[in-house]
Amino acid sequence: MKTTRRKFLTSVSMLAATTAFPINVFEFGKKEKLKVALVGTGIRGTSFWGKRLVDEYSDILEFVGLCDVNEGRLSYAQEYIGTKCPLFLDFDQMLKDAKPDLVIVTTVDATHHEFIVKGLKAGIDVLTEKPLTTDEDKAQQIIDAEKSSGKSLIVGFNYRWSPYSTKIKELIASGTIGEITSVDFHWYLNTYHGASYFRRWHGLVNKGGSLWVHKSTHHFDLLNWWIDSDPEEVFAYGDLEHYGKNGPFRGANCRDCSFKDKCEYHFDITKNKRLMDLYVANENFDGYIRDNCLFRDEIDIYDKMSAQIKYANNVTVNYSLTTYSPFEGWRIAFNGTKGRIEAALDIPYHQNTAISQEALHAKEMDQNAMEEAETESIIVHKLWSDFETVKVPVEKGGHGGGDKRLHNKIFKTPTEKDPYDRSAGIRDGIMSVLIGIGARKSIESGKPIAISELTALEPSVKRLK
Ligand SMILES: NC(=O)c1ccc[n+]([C@@H]2O[C@H](COP(=O)([O-])OP(=O)(O)OC[C@H]3O[C@@H](n4cnc5c(N)ncnc54)[C@H](O)[C@@H]3O)[C@@H](O)[C@H]2O)c1
Repeated sequence: MKTTRRKFLTSVSMLAATTAFPINVFEFGKKEKLKVALVGTGIRGTSFWGKRLVDEYSDILEFVGLCDVNEGRLSYAQEYIGTKCPLFLDFDQMLKDAKPDLVIVTTVDATHHEFIVKGLKAGIDVLTEKPLTTDEDKAQQIIDAEKSSGKSLIVGFNYRWSPYSTKIKELIASGTIGEITSVDFHWYLNTYHGASYFRRWHGLVNKGGSLWVHKSTHHFDLLNWWIDSDPEEVFAYGDLEHYGKNGPFRGANCRDCSFKDKCEYHFDITKNKRLMDLYVANENFDGYIRDNCLFRDEIDIYDKMSAQIKYANNVTVNYSLTTYSPFEGWRIAFNGTKGRIEAALDIPYHQNTAISQEALHAKEMDQNAMEEAETESIIVHKLWSDFETVKVPVEKGGHGGGDKRLHNKIFKTPTEKDPYDRSAGIRDGIMSVLIGIGARKSIESGKPIAISELTALEPSVKRLK
């Protein structure tokens, strides 16, 4: 299907239509391309929201500005993305000079709110990477800004768009096991992917809100979408027992570390040209070390996390996140009034094959990974019956195939109705981060946290669109 600017704009409005707040209707009918400005020219900004947009959608959009606090990374980004648009170290200046139709936010998580609020207040629509934000005060600022601006906010929840997640949604929504009553959900990050968070800015609560927010926002969004209700209360435990101060030794960075031969987590960034060009070549501008020591003392996030979540429709969830598992994968089970659904991805014992966890991590992170004709199973076990196995074709690259489907929805098939309701707006973004923020507060206080105490949003028995 030929994509036009009008179709793109309609799609953005439709995506934003999942919000409970008034949505902006874009100015239709302009002849020129959609003007896009991006803030945060790191790995996600330059690849998925940068180069891929130029490569796939240049017929309807053009970059009019790139912004980052790191001057060197900004110049590299311009070349990598393949645009000649102006570069800005100052976001306000970019809005003033570049006059974008849409701002894409791909900065460090704790700074998202600043650009979302400024963009909305300047009368510009905003698309942000997850997590929407990292604490409840920033969440409220975003709610207020969207309400008063009348502009739209889209949250890039790509996990909903993977065929496997979508199949689970389809099975639940069609009443296969009746009404859902409780859920067990456990996510295992391996010693490549899990460890990588502790090397980077993600290891600090004041940058990424901890993995309760940075990572679990994906999982909580899936839960909210599958269960189709809002979270009401969360109680959590968590600790840092493996990485950070617990390590037996530490160095300034992996490259120059004197424990290279001893450390099982040693990561040789010099073998990866893209990471060298993006980060190491630009360390002198901001001091950010991409191959930082995952045993450094300043790390203050949890590496094991466990929560119970009660939903407004009375569904109860047991959730956990592990960051040093020998394999990467997840399991979920839904108990319903008429039976049970069990799903699991990437559990090596299910495949009965040896999987290189390093190769798996590299493939997962690759936006352009080749699609493979693999299937994974979902078990549907109705009460008083034998179980059935539902086979789902799956992809490994680009977050289970979710990345490219999210883009295609926005840019290629905007007017098609989505029976699975996969588009996410501000309310979805906020509800998913509030569970993680509540979990952090629960660990600190030792008490359950009511989601309604955190912002002005009241949990709804049926998820609001
Ligand atoms: N949806 C997904 O699956 C997915 C995957 C990866 C990353 N992300 C999200 O994308 C965002 C970026 O992550 P990343 O891995 O690219 O990180 P990164 O460290 O590679 O990039 C972040 C960039 O933001 C810049 N920056 C930081 N503070 C800034 C400020 N105040 N003003 C302007 N620029 C600033 C940094 O200099 C850096 O270039 C994060 O929010 C992350 O959660 C989402």
